[in-house]
Amino acid sequence: MEISPFFCLTIGLVLVFPAPSSLADPDLLQDFCVGDVNASITINGFPCKPASEVTPDDFFFDGLSREGNTSNQFGTGVTLGNVLSFPGLNTLGISMNRVDFAPGGLNPPHSHPRATESGIIIEGRLLVGFVTTGNVFYSKVLTAGQMFVVPKGLVHFQKNVGEGKALIFTAFNSQLPGAVILSTTLFGATPAIPNDVLTKAFQVEEDVINEMKAKFGP
Ligand SMILES: *[C@@H]1O[C@H](CO)[C@@H](O)[C@H](O)[C@H]1NC(C)=O
Ligand SMILES: *[C@@H]1O[C@H](CO)[C@@H](O)[C@H](O)[C@H]1NC(C)=O
Repeated sequence: MEISPFFCLTIGLVLVFPAPSSLADPDLLQDFCVGDVNASITINGFPCKPASEVTPDDFFFDGLSREGNTSNQFGTGVTLGNVLSFPGLNTLGISMNRVDFAPGGLNPPHSHPRATESGIIIEGRLLVGFVTTGNVFYSKVLTAGQMFVVPKGLVHFQKNVGEGKALIFTAFNSQLPGAVILSTTLFGATPAIPNDVLTKAFQVEEDVINEMKAKFGP
């Protein structure tokens, strides 16, 4: 059988440049690398603090033990347990958040560009949902002990539909999942996105855009 040179080239390229197999942060090259989050150099992540300066406290974080402040327009308090607040996570490819909800509170539609999310309801009753790239909306009301998952990058939200407070913990396969919050991204950017872009995008009059900018602006 004759093997075409294109076949050989294709196989060669696949061997030399395999398709990116990593669905999350890159793999470790050492046991740990406690992030020096104030380092003056920037890399993909943070440089490691010298091993001689690493202490047990670098691997523990109690920031998620305190109730978040829900006195804001959304009625939710998101506490971040990512590499910036917990530098011991640097290069480990994981992080967690705590989200507290006042009655009626909403963790508004947002996406995490760098991570898939899973979450568990600790207290309360929440409507949890995400929308696919094909615009299918999947949602369910969950109560304590129940889990959910949000595929990487998809727009999702959680709303407290119970009588009292609600609490969830979420976990991510990234040390810094990032959050694109649709309302603040589109109407609160600095400098602002021009009104003619937003009136055209949402097919509304300028006063509607100005009202949104007034609510979500910096
Ligand atoms: C990094 O800098 C911030 C602001 O100056 C400071 O609050 C924080 O403690 C520093 N973190 C470390 C690990 O040195
Ligand atoms: C919660 O946030 C509000 C609004 O920023 C602030 O006025 C209030 O003092 C905060 N409460 C606590 C307990 O920190």
